[in-house]
Amino acid sequence: MDYTNRVILITGASSGIGRAVAVALGRYNNDIFITARRKRLLDETAKLVMAHGSRCYPIVGDALDEAYCASVVGHIVDKFKRIDIALLNIGGGPPSNTLTVSAKVVKECMRSNYDTMINFFCPLIGQMKKQTTKCLIAQTNSLATYFGIPMQGDYTAAKAAGRIFLETARMELRHFGYKHVLIQTIHPGFVDTEKSRNDGIPEPNVISEEKSAEYILKGFRKEWLENRFPASMSAAVRFGRIVPYGFRTRVLLGETPKDY
Ligand SMILES: NC(=O)c1ccc[n+]([C@@H]2O[C@H](COP(=O)([O-])OP(=O)(O)OC[C@H]3O[C@@H](n4cnc5c(N)ncnc54)[C@H](OP(=O)(O)O)[C@@H]3O)[C@@H](O)[C@H]2O)c1
Repeated sequence: MDYTNRVILITGASSGIGRAVAVALGRYNNDIFITARRKRLLDETAKLVMAHGSRCYPIVGDALDEAYCASVVGHIVDKFKRIDIALLNIGGGPPSNTLTVSAKVVKECMRSNYDTMINFFCPLIGQMKKQTTKCLIAQTNSLATYFGIPMQGDYTAAKAAGRIFLETARMELRHFGYKHVLIQTIHPGFVDTEKSRNDGIPEPNVISEEKSAEYILKGFRKEWLENRFPASMSAAVRFGRIVPYGFRTRVLLGETPKDY
């Protein structure tokens, strides 16, 4: 999927990976709509994007609000009649312990990673089905989506739910003949964002936000169904998926601190 002269939506672009992707796409003469709750930071992202020659339109709001998400999609369509690329990027996974966590925290994690995605996905897919040119919905998922990981139980579950929903959507787009709509899940390993830097979760092979944006743009260009990076972490996860459960558990617990 070419990402030049496009109408693009990036959710969760006030910091981290979303901001880095917005800035990277700013180099390609795009119209980029960005969302998040923190207005000041979102406006700063917009300035960075525009400094690279694209147009940028911040729309502040909480993606847990279904009506707000629908209005963002409606606003873009009113203005441009189409959306070419949507990166659904909102989420996060502070460390947690399945043996002590409250139901409230687990559900908040699901809401932050899954509900925010669905709130944008539903109006987006309704719109994109009507379009006739190629378009893409991508979600920032995680390499922590394929099996349970200590300290990340609620997060891995929320990301797995998103991945499986989108996999099904991809099948149904094909089934119902909407071949022009692409669905991609993006699976970063550890990315050095302000949020993740000091959260206490070990971060082997961590990469910068800018590097993650490079990988994400490459994935758009190649139209991969799943974009996993960096290669070292992707290989480790591939290995982890095929080894016996007992072996995987021993390796993961070997990396897990005792005090959380
Ligand atoms: N960092 C990593 O190592 C890593 C690895 C794999 C996957 N990921 C995934 O990458 C994505 C981005 O993470 P990040 O590390 O870049 O974290 P981040 O800097 O905290 O970015 C999260 C973004 O989502 C926005 N957001 C959160 N809740 C929102 C809500 N209810 N409504 C609207 N916006 C909301 C935040 O903005 P506001 O607070 O201003 O609303 C922020 O812009 C997440 O989905 C995360 O799971 C991260």
